Amino acid sequence: MNKVAAGIPALVLAKVETFNPGHSIKDRIAVRMVDDAEADGRLKPGGTIIECTSGNTGMGLALVACVRGYKTIFTTSDKQSKEKIDMLKALGSEVIVCPTNVEPDDPRSYYSIARKLSQDIPNSFWCNQYDNLSNREAHYSSTGPEIWDQTDGKITHLVVGVGTGGTISGAAKFLKEQNPNIKIWGIDTYGSVFKKYKETGIFDPKEIYPYITEGIGEDILPANVDFDLIDKFEKVSDKDAALMARRLAKEEGILLGYSAGSAMQGIIQLKDELKSTDVVVLIFHDHGSRYIGKIYNDNWMRERGFLEDELKVLDLVARKSDKTFFSASPDQTVKEVFHLMKSNDISQIPVLENDKNIGSLTESKVLNYLIENPMVHADQKISSIMEAPFPLISSDVPFTQLSKYFTMKDQAVLTKDLTGAWHILTSYDVVQAI
Ligand SMILES: Cc1ncc(COP(=O)(O)O)c(C=O)c1O
Repeated sequence: MNKVAAGIPALVLAKVETFNPGHSIKDRIAVRMVDDAEADGRLKPGGTIIECTSGNTGMGLALVACVRGYKTIFTTSDKQSKEKIDMLKALGSEVIVCPTNVEPDDPRSYYSIARKLSQDIPNSFWCNQYDNLSNREAHYSSTGPEIWDQTDGKITHLVVGVGTGGTISGAAKFLKEQNPNIKIWGIDTYGSVFKKYKETGIFDPKEIYPYITEGIGEDILPANVDFDLIDKFEKVSDKDAALMARRLAKEEGILLGYSAGSAMQGIIQLKDELKSTDVVVLIFHDHGSRYIGKIYNDNWMRERGFLEDELKVLDLVARKSDKTFFSASPDQTVKEVFHLMKSNDISQIPVLENDKNIGSLTESKVLNYLIENPMVHADQKISSIMEAPFPLISSDVPFTQLSKYFTMKDQAVLTKDLTGAWHILTSYDVVQAI
């Protein structure tokens, strides 16, 4: 890592797991859980694979199932990105979306529903990546050795987001067997039980509350987490993780998932514990394509208060549901323009001539004219009754400066985008955008 790691005294390397066929590290455990279940007869030909998954394990399992002829049913929680769910469906899987904000043992939780399905469906196998130790074994036999070889044994710190705990525990076991001095740091979220449990041995339900980060943190203690192998946990907030994932994309050119932002932010928070001779390896679990509608979407970020940048006029234009731009030309008649406004339900219209903003008409001006003048005058050209043009402002004027353009007289402003297309922002549009 280069720019984002500039303030960290150590060498910071990333193991980028997006090159797996399912674009996440979870392909490793999918193959291993299926191999082990086939080997001891828990999974039989033509069977149904069931799993509760935030999406990535499901993706890996769906790929294995396609190749080996199994059906797949996944339970997932309603905070997972739509992209993840749609991808599972694209591979022929059935996906059941369950509520996030229920206790793990609530019959509606994604764990309970997976368990129930596995009891009800004959010839089915519930992988249960949380407690199935094939999960961490996959990382003990692949991820750990790869990191050791790829750093020529120079790794001093492994930093990993923790969900089921399979990645960190499997890789840590292998690495600590090679060099017991390697430090293993787990990255946790606010709203998860891991950090407090590691520090106090207490499973504290008060630590549990809904959070937005995907893939890491838990409200249970999965059997795959080996707390003895993890030296410490660091919590990263939803906002900091999301902002860091965006920096990884824009500054390092690597489009990654939410938990990659957590891992990178975590090591920045812990930088004072590192020295120049240290070699840190971060694991980045999945690809950013799954989060395009979320952390990489400015509106999604703003709605959660994660983006502090100011809204600009162009952002407000983008939020308009109907962006059709109506204008009149000065030689149109009052009748024509009145009809145009009435049939399109608009109360003000700019008057343009040769792409120049030369005047405006409001509904009240037209109405007053028609009331005061008999209908015979409706064929009058609007140039004779139009008012001053609406203010034309730059599309990057900040939202907070808009108020000075809206007056009793001017209920709209005009702007042009980079393609030269005209847009109108009425006071109604601004209220809608707010
Ligand atoms: C995006 C993402 N990051 C991190 C993790 C955590 O990995 P593990 O379950 O091996 O602890 C997961 C697991 O689901 C994940 O999907």
